[in-house]
Amino acid sequence: MDEPPPSQPDASEQSPDAPPIDRPIVIAANRLPVMRTDDHGWTPSPGGLVRALYPMLRESGGTWVGWTGDPDDAADPFTVDGVDLHPVAVTADEIELYYEGFSNDALWPLYHDALRESTYSIEQWDAYRAVNERFAITLANIAPENSVVWIHDYQLQLVPGVLREQRPDLTIGFFLHIPFPPVELFTRLPWRTEIIRGLLGCDLVGFQRPTGAANFVAAAHQLLDAEHADDSVFYDGREVQAGVFPISIDVAEVEAMAAGRATRRQVSQIRARLGDPEVVMLGVDRLDYTKGIGLRLKAFAKLLEDGRLDPAHNVMVQVATPTREAVEAYQDERAEIERLVGEINGRFSSIGLPVVHYLYQTLPYDDLVALYRAGDVMLVTPFRDGMNLVAKEYAAAHIDGDGVLVLSEFAGAADELTDAVLVNPHDDRALQDAIVEAVEMHRHERRERMAGLRDQIRKSDVQGWAHRFLAALDAAGTRS
Ligand code: G6P
Repeated sequence: MDEPPPSQPDASEQSPDAPPIDRPIVIAANRLPVMRTDDHGWTPSPGGLVRALYPMLRESGGTWVGWTGDPDDAADPFTVDGVDLHPVAVTADEIELYYEGFSNDALWPLYHDALRESTYSIEQWDAYRAVNERFAITLANIAPENSVVWIHDYQLQLVPGVLREQRPDLTIGFFLHIPFPPVELFTRLPWRTEIIRGLLGCDLVGFQRPTGAANFVAAAHQLLDAEHADDSVFYDGREVQAGVFPISIDVAEVEAMAAGRATRRQVSQIRARLGDPEVVMLGVDRLDYTKGIGLRLKAFAKLLEDGRLDPAHNVMVQVATPTREAVEAYQDERAEIERLVGEINGRFSSIGLPVVHYLYQTLPYDDLVALYRAGDVMLVTPFRDGMNLVAKEYAAAHIDGDGVLVLSEFAGAADELTDAVLVNPHDDRALQDAIVEAVEMHRHERRERMAGLRDQIRKSDVQGWAHRFLAALDAAGTRS
């Protein structure tokens, strides 16, 4: 019998949470999808990825393998909300070498256009390899016969290769949440061949954008002389597919939060506390140098200086979520952003009415949704970003059909969100003009563009993304 196409799940499925395949699913990601609660229990973490995968794992009796986030945490396997969780212990030294070092001080900058110099250290590489092997061995020990293993992100690129050697019966998939760089940059990495070999242990490797998939295929060809045709690489007697699966958000959940009475009340309170300005500009990012937060603050300052924006009527709210605080480049970025916020407020604020409101905090998701709704203009201006889910969350939260998104061409989201005001953030003047265009945009055009953005994200939510990836992985595993 023909399988139904992945975009049209079988109507006889019992639950909308059921996975699109009938084999057991095992997920591996650097972090487990749970957080500790105040009473020493666990609860699922916020975030679209967890919300999409958790119900599927529950339905299929699946398992998730990952690090708890604490050093030397060799907790026994446990269950939260019907999902089996297998912690992988990472020592304090390995956090420094594998996580802060190789993952976030070598791979992260290199994969984001080499925006910062990478540190290449053999000690860090050894720790990366050791932790990846530990993940692979845990997976090899627990994955049921013929199951489907889905590995996530740049911290775990060696896992597929090691796992393939141990368990040839498994179907192995990998999704890279960040960009895969052009060969010219990728080949700087001293261990480039090992990384490509690791990924070639998969049946399917998924990317956010077509350029990522093409860069990977080109790297496999150049470094290993692997044959390739269309979206497949042939290596070691096997076919490895490279596919494009742009990730999304839980649209229904954001919409439901945005529609809640508490959120609506919060939106009026936020605007009142900001002094009821004409325009609230908003930035929401992890405090990462890839996000272009400083650039956006400088553009705002220039517009105030030139009188193109009036500080009495325009305010900016910048939420910067703390992240990777032990890595020097992140400390430097924070210092620079906080210097800029101070400088701009010193020049343009008046008593009781700062022109930039800066929160270096991790806000609860419902507070973020209220901020999205309160924001008239959302500024998403990364130098490079795998996708950028904030852009999609902003559009999902604007159930009022209003609001303007200014979006960098260098975010993966720019492929789909073509109704945003798209901008090259490296171009100062273009960024300033894009902000003014958003602020002055006529209501009719704002509504038309927001309708386009909302149509687009409704067509592809995170549940659909996970279903498409798993269905393609199942098919790739069955064929090879
Ligand atoms: C990005 C990466 C994820 C990572 C997240 C938060 O989205 O693609 O793999 O989990 O940032 O970073 P952190 O280092 O705190 O896990």
